[in-house]
Amino acid sequence: MEDTPQVLEQLSLRPATVQDVEPILDLVNDLAADGEMLPRSPATTIERLRDFVVAEVDGRFAGCGALALVWTDMAEIRSIAVAKEQRGKGLGRKMALFLLEEAERLGVARVMAFTYVTGFFDRLGFREVDHAALPHKVFQDCLNCPKFHRCDEVAVVKDLSCSQDAPPLGPLSLPMPGRHLPKRKT
Ligand SMILES: CC(C)(COP(=O)(O)OP(=O)(O)OC[C@H]1O[C@@H](n2cnc3c(N)ncnc32)[C@H](O)[C@@H]1OP(=O)(O)O)[C@@H](O)C(=O)NCCC(=O)NCCS
Repeated sequence: MEDTPQVLEQLSLRPATVQDVEPILDLVNDLAADGEMLPRSPATTIERLRDFVVAEVDGRFAGCGALALVWTDMAEIRSIAVAKEQRGKGLGRKMALFLLEEAERLGVARVMAFTYVTGFFDRLGFREVDHAALPHKVFQDCLNCPKFHRCDEVAVVKDLSCSQDAPPLGPLSLPMPGRHLPKRKT
């Protein structure tokens, strides 16, 4: 009997374009309807489109993730999601590593996320922290969140290479822009 030829899928990443707004909203809001993550509005998705990376399988949209700058020492991974039928292939990790590399390039000390899937972030070297340990600025976007008064997401943080030179994590850790910036590694 002949061996069945193995079909290798092509997994790739690219920055989002306006053509991705609809697939991003469909994916994120379908998962939000199932309680897997928080919803996004068209307006914030368009405004924040340059934060997004898109994952493709054989040239077709399969997932997305965003890196939002919160302050000079903190960025946040938001809306990272993989289509249900494409999970478990490493796309989520690929996107998260891409976003972490982008955070390193920007020179921020730490990356955080609010999540229900702590195991996924744990595999990437994040640690769980108390919400109270996060800078207040982080919670600005929470004001528009439908779960503002009953947040059940876990906060996770990963220190990047600049973190040793940054103020310790805490509600008042925000340095003034342009002052006390973490030193960049050369
Ligand atoms: C979380 C999510 C993005 C992971 O995507 P994925 O492509 O399936 O993940 P990967 O295949 O890259 O998995 C990477 C690692 O994380 C682990 N992992 C993935 N999903 C996990 C989960 N739900 N719980 C625990 N661990 C998980 C994998 O086992 C793998 O571990 P390994 O290092 O031992 O191999 C995807 O399940 C998803 O879209 N979930 C719904 C949306 C969501 O919750 N997003 C997070 C919002 S902040």
